[in-house]
Amino acid sequence: MKVSVLKNGPLKVDGAIALVQDGAVLPLPGPAVFLCRCGASAKKPFCDGAHARIGFKDESATADA
Ligand code: FES
Repeated sequence: MKVSVLKNGPLKVDGAIALVQDGAVLPLPGPAVFLCRCGASAKKPFCDGAHARIGFKDESATADA
């Protein structure tokens, strides 16, 4: 499994076998899973693109600004 932090976006998880939330196993949407980091997704724990709409900036982007 590989986890990547996407700048100003979600965590990308490649090769996940299963995700568990509140004791329930979640169906994986595909071979790569994108997990919300901004807190604005309506489909948590998955990213739904809301980070772009709210202008989410991670710390590395803030440091560069
Ligand atoms: S990181 Fe994409 S909706 Fe939160």
